[in-house]
Amino acid sequence: TKLVFVKPDGTEMTVEATNGSTVMQTALDNGIEEIVADCGGSCSCATCHCYIDDAWQSKLNPPDEIETDMLDCVLDRKPGSRLSCQIEVSDDLDGLHIALPSAQF
Ligand code: FES
Repeated sequence: TKLVFVKPDGTEMTVEATNGSTVMQTALDNGIEEIVADCGGSCSCATCHCYIDDAWQSKLNPPDEIETDMLDCVLDRKPGSRLSCQIEVSDDLDGLHIALPSAQF
């Protein structure tokens, strides 16, 4: 599954992701520094924040209550804000664009 990470300056980086993994883990595996992921994916640090545009939101599971609460803690919350550790990679997400914030805290 191909994922496209979009840096704050607009640079795109397309990487190959493993189904069943998460967007956060894929970012770490590919050295994408904008994703910090302090808690290692347990939805308790909010430093894996990213933005997903409207067109793709419908293909993702909506954020659960814990993720929604954690999103209150991110630096610059927008309508497309998600925690990348809560997005599981699957074939459906092929071509997903993940916009990265300029800072996590
Ligand atoms: Fe900590 Fe996602 S990695 S909330």
